[in-house]
Amino acid sequence: MAIERTLSIIKPDATRRNLTGKINAKFEEAGLRIVAQKRIKLSMEQAGKFYEVHKERPFYGELCEFMASEPVVVQVLEGEGAILKNREVMGATNPADAAPGTIRAEFAESVGENSVHGSDAPETAAQEIAYFFSGLELVG
Ligand code: CMP
Repeated sequence: MAIERTLSIIKPDATRRNLTGKINAKFEEAGLRIVAQKRIKLSMEQAGKFYEVHKERPFYGELCEFMASEPVVVQVLEGEGAILKNREVMGATNPADAAPGTIRAEFAESVGENSVHGSDAPETAAQEIAYFFSGLELVG
């Protein structure tokens, strides 16, 4: 399988509870390398643009407010089949459905406050990485 990069976000519910290190350990135990990482506070506008694809969903406003409520950690994860692997490590969107041992099963509070985001496909991974990181910040 090819080496891929994917965009990961550790969300406000997790940064608030000081879980960044525990979540990063899950990525590293699964063979994913954190090749770029920064802690930032999103504006409502930045959160809205990032989640634009969900604009028509009833939860869009709530989602943007949550993502802009407290700092997040944005990251680039690299590894073999990193996009799918990260989705396995995260677990299902709704923590009630997430497999045991996954990040969302262990840490997420609800479907909205679900601790992590991960890109869902190669095209979105490329777009989402470019949204937060310049080429100069990606040293591998
Ligand atoms: P994420 O992977 O970041 O992509 C979109 C997000 O929308 C998702 O994780 C959830 O946090 C959020 N989301 C999805 N469904 C709902 C819902 N029914 N209510 C609130 N938030 C949701």
